[in-house]
Amino acid sequence: MNSVTPFSNQASKTDLYRQICEQLQQLIGGERDFIANAANTAALLFHSLQDVSWVGCYLRQGEDLVVGPFQGKPACSRIPVGRGVCGSAAESEETVIVPNVSEFPGHIACDPASASEIVVPLLNWGKLIGVLDIDSASLNRFDEDDQEGLESVAAILLASQPTDDLPDLSQTAID
Ligand code: SME
Repeated sequence: MNSVTPFSNQASKTDLYRQICEQLQQLIGGERDFIANAANTAALLFHSLQDVSWVGCYLRQGEDLVVGPFQGKPACSRIPVGRGVCGSAAESEETVIVPNVSEFPGHIACDPASASEIVVPLLNWGKLIGVLDIDSASLNRFDEDDQEGLESVAAILLASQPTDDLPDLSQTAID
C-alpha cells in the first residue's frame, strides 16, 4: 500500500517540490490509467502542501472543463473554457496565479473561503486536456516557485501513460 511520506517543514519550496516529484513518480509511474494517476496526484499534493484548501483537476470536454479527481470540499461541476481562473488558464494555455481571487474578474467562488489560487494547464503534446487547480484560504499563497514545481508535477502526471490512454478530449479543438 502506498503512503505519503511526511516532508520536512524546513525544506525550501524547491526542495519540497523535488521531493513531491520523486514521490509522485514512484506513486504513479507504474500505472497507466489517467484518472487513477490524477486522483493520486491530487491526494499527494493536498497532503504535502501546507495551507491549501482544494487540489484537483478539471478535465476538458469540448468547450467545458468538468471536475475530475480532487481533494477538498465539493466543487463546481462544469466551467466553460474562458470563464473563471480555470477557464482563463485553459484558454491561454498558461499557468495563472491569482494572489487575491476577489480581484480576479469572473472568479468562480466554489468555496467562499478561497482567497488565492493557482491553475496549471495540462497540455498533452500541445492539446489541452484539462487543468490542475489549487486553492488556498490565505492571500498570496502561490508564487513562481509553486508554478515551477506544479508544472513539473503536471509533466509527470501527463508522462505517466501513453497518449492513447488519455481521456478522449478531441471533440473540439481550442485554437
Ligand atoms: N475558482 C475556480 C473554480 C474552481 S474551484 O476553485 C475548485 C475558478 O474561478 O475557475
